[in-house]
Amino acid sequence: MKITWLGHSAVKLEADKTILIDPFFAGPSQNLKANQSTGIDFVAVTHGHGDHIGDAFEICKENNATFIGGAELADEAEKFGLKALGMNIGGKIAVGGVVFNMVFAAHSANIGSPAGFVIEMNGLKVYHAGDTGLTLEMKLIGELFKPDLSLLPIGDTYTMGADMAAIAVEYLQTKKVIPIHYNTFPAINADPNVFKKKVGAKAEVIVIEPGDYFELK
Ligand code: NI
Ligand code: MN
Repeated sequence: MKITWLGHSAVKLEADKTILIDPFFAGPSQNLKANQSTGIDFVAVTHGHGDHIGDAFEICKENNATFIGGAELADEAEKFGLKALGMNIGGKIAVGGVVFNMVFAAHSANIGSPAGFVIEMNGLKVYHAGDTGLTLEMKLIGELFKPDLSLLPIGDTYTMGADMAAIAVEYLQTKKVIPIHYNTFPAINADPNVFKKKVGAKAEVIVIEPGDYFELK
């Protein structure tokens, strides 16, 4: 599976299907939208904050892609004339060979509840934490799903920072991590190599630039 970080919380997963998560393009990634938002099958949004909904509706429309998100966000997508599948925490949707599991996130939202996703595709499980603080629920996510790769926010201020995200890595028992949700704007500036140092030997921390990808096997 090809995992491309598109800056902030935006990530593209490509295997049998192409999935865009939280497609918000700003700051260092503002020029990535044009090249990275074609051929999309699903757009999954973790929660109703502008830096996560981003261009989700527009991209769904342009690609005839299916919107996946919390029930309240999915209702909005439907009002916009999109194909949408709504869900809630604890639920899963199996569609087109992909399984979307919606999991807990400790955060807030302007509409609906905040969440994360564990996405299963081509035999691999990827956990996108959305925006969240450190929470013991991550132990449950680790036990239930054993994610092959976790995408964790490290920018602090609005989510956990490097210290707490390093504890999250332990809770999740995840072997690979890509840090996200940092360096988009000053309030969330962070050095991903500090996070990498804190995680140490507990997991492989993959630090990439917006627009770069990692091949998950
Ligand atoms: Ni948020
Ligand atoms: Mn955010």
